[in-house]
Amino acid sequence: MTIKLAVIPVAGRGTRLLPLAKSQPKEMLPVGRKPIVQYVVEELYHCGLEKMLFITGPGKTAIENHFDLDPELTEHLRHTGKEELLAELEFEREKIQYFYTRQRKQLGLGHAVLCAEPMIGRENFVVALGDSVLGIHAASKVVRQMITEFEKKSAAAVISFEKVPLQDVHRYGIAAPKEGEEVQEGHIFQLSNIVEKPSAEEAPSQLAVASRYVFSGEIFDYLKKTKPGKGGEIQLTDAIQAMITDGKKVYGLSISHADRRFDVGNFESYFEAFLEFAFNDPDYGLSIQKKMRELLK
Ligand code: UTP
Repeated sequence: MTIKLAVIPVAGRGTRLLPLAKSQPKEMLPVGRKPIVQYVVEELYHCGLEKMLFITGPGKTAIENHFDLDPELTEHLRHTGKEELLAELEFEREKIQYFYTRQRKQLGLGHAVLCAEPMIGRENFVVALGDSVLGIHAASKVVRQMITEFEKKSAAAVISFEKVPLQDVHRYGIAAPKEGEEVQEGHIFQLSNIVEKPSAEEAPSQLAVASRYVFSGEIFDYLKKTKPGKGGEIQLTDAIQAMITDGKKVYGLSISHADRRFDVGNFESYFEAFLEFAFNDPDYGLSIQKKMRELLK
């Protein structure tokens, strides 16, 4: 596998989570035992990615601190007889390189990805949103499958999709599969279009972008030409659409239920994610489930 680099945009303001995300990054919100962005990095690392490039912004330094080595804390745990807790810091020692660059103005996700260009050039790379993780406790290997398909098909892009209820299509980029393409869970299909946040009437399908992308460096050429779209933001979806219009091969991968997306970007999905991760906690999951059942009686 040749792709080793993931871009993780974390510069967004998180206004849908006010006041919670006013002075702390939404990407640092706990989902069960870990901040969501740690799950994102673990998911990517287990899919073979070793270089993480964060696109950060104002008020996001807690993310950089979280991935630093903390020798003082390690010493403290050793000296106070809490060696067993050192296992909780093992993630600091994984063979991962961290890079950070700033999005100096929050002009949208497409713009955030474009901020990576000076460090990436024409390399192929993954984009993983820092507020969403695939699979319970980040167990999904979908990104690895996406990279394999990307290389096999010499694609310009491969994007993960998940079926959402019709009333939710207005929140996502929605795929129009190429005519005659069968969309099956776990399988790849070619796209004929992609639309950012369509209304239920306009939506070509219920397949919503599920926060993971593999791109060739060509995406930067398209992002540079992309004008502000929905919400006045430079939309990644619009750049992908321009690629398709230009005849580039763009594929979707329809993810399975086991690989489903957990997203902390709004309160409803944040609460759902937290509950499901807590219910599956190795130590407390069963007792929390029992308590919940009693509460719901
Ligand atoms: P969202 O679409 O949830 O946008 O971002 P947002 O601005 O963070 O949140 P709201 O809409 O104000 O509540 C999806 C991912 O893209 C990043 C976010 O940090 C998040 O991980 N992002 C978004 C950027 O890095 N820069 C941006 O300008 C916008």
